[in-house]
Parts: sequence; C-alpha cells; structure tokens
Amino acid sequence: MTLWLALAALALFVLTIGCAAAEVAHAPVVDASRLPPLGTEWRTENPYRGNAEAEAVGRTVFNQSCARCHGADAAGGGSAPDLRRLDGFCRAIGDAKLRHDCMVDNDVFFRDSVLHGKVRVGVVHMPPWEGLLPQEVLWAVQAFVESQRGK
Ligand code: HEC
Repeated sequence: MTLWLALAALALFVLTIGCAAAEVAHAPVVDASRLPPLGTEWRTENPYRGNAEAEAVGRTVFNQSCARCHGADAAGGGSAPDLRRLDGFCRAIGDAKLRHDCMVDNDVFFRDSVLHGKVRVGVVHMPPWEGLLPQEVLWAVQAFVESQRGK
C-alpha cells in the first residue's frame, strides 16, 4: 500500500516536471540579420508580409519553436490550432480599407498571442515568448505561416 502511494506520488512528480518542462519557451537559434531592422517599438502591422527572405527565417524559427504544437511547417495536425486559418476571415473581405483594418487587428492578435502566450487559470497552454523573440523574428514567423496558406 505504502509502496503504491510512493509510486503514485513519483509518477505525479515526473508528470508535473515533464509537463512544466515541455511548456517553457526557448530563444530559437536563427540569423535574422538579413532582414530590414525594425527598431524596438513594436509594430501593429507585419512589415514583412510576402517577403521571401523573412519567410525563410520564419520557417526555421517555426520548426524550432512552434511546430511541436502547431504542426511541422505549420501544416496543422498538432495539439494546437492550425495557424494558417487565422487571417482567412480578413482576406475574404471585399472592401480594401476594411480588409486592411482587419489584417492589422489580426497582426496584433498574432503578436500578442506569441509575446504573452496562452495562460488560462494558471495553466500554460502556450508559453510566452516576450524577451526571447525580437520583433524581426516574430513578424518573420507570421510571414512564413501566411506563406503556407492552402498548402
Ligand atoms: C506548448 C505548445 C505550443 C507551442 C510551443 C506554441 N503554441 Fe501557439 N498555441 C498553443 C495552444 C494550445 C493554443 C490555443 C490556446 C488557446 O487559445 O486556448 C495556441 C494558440 C496560438 C495562437 C492563437 C491562435 C488562435 O486561433 O487563437 C497563435 C497566433 C499562436 N499560438 C502562435 C504560436 C507561435 C508563432 C508559436 C511559436 C513561436 C507557438 N504558437 C508555439 C500551443 C502552443
């Protein structure tokens, strides 16, 4: 009986450590020096949309930092939402001004989701990357995700 209790406690301990360790963000290893520098003030709109160089940097980072939950090459199928669908609603808007405003909202949502992570009632569904991803890298990741639409 005591042995079972001890084993159960050990299993719980290992599980807790395992989960906690899995939900910590690490700075990705990437050279983003070829991307135009954006300064320290966070933008509200992705300046690299459609930039092939940024998409290549973004792919490297995505596969290091996001793929284990959001699927390799953002192809979906992981435990987290398929990010290629995020801007679908905006892109379907006919009016150019409204579409642009919608994309800006979507960019801010993407940015803040990554910087702050997704923590609800103390449970870390996605860890925060604030301080680990410079904005050049964050926008490059979004440019890559968008380039995967329809793939
Ligand atoms: C540990 C798993 C995990 C990792 C790693 C992870 N995410 Fe997430 N992410 C999630 C989960 C789970 C959600 C949905 C959480 C929720 O809304 O409750 C989410 C939601 C998001 C959302 C909002 C999507 C929506 O439809 O609401 C964005 C954007 C996002 N993640 C981007 C990223 C990016 C970019 C990376 C890599 C830098 C990343 N995530 C790494 C688990 C993860």
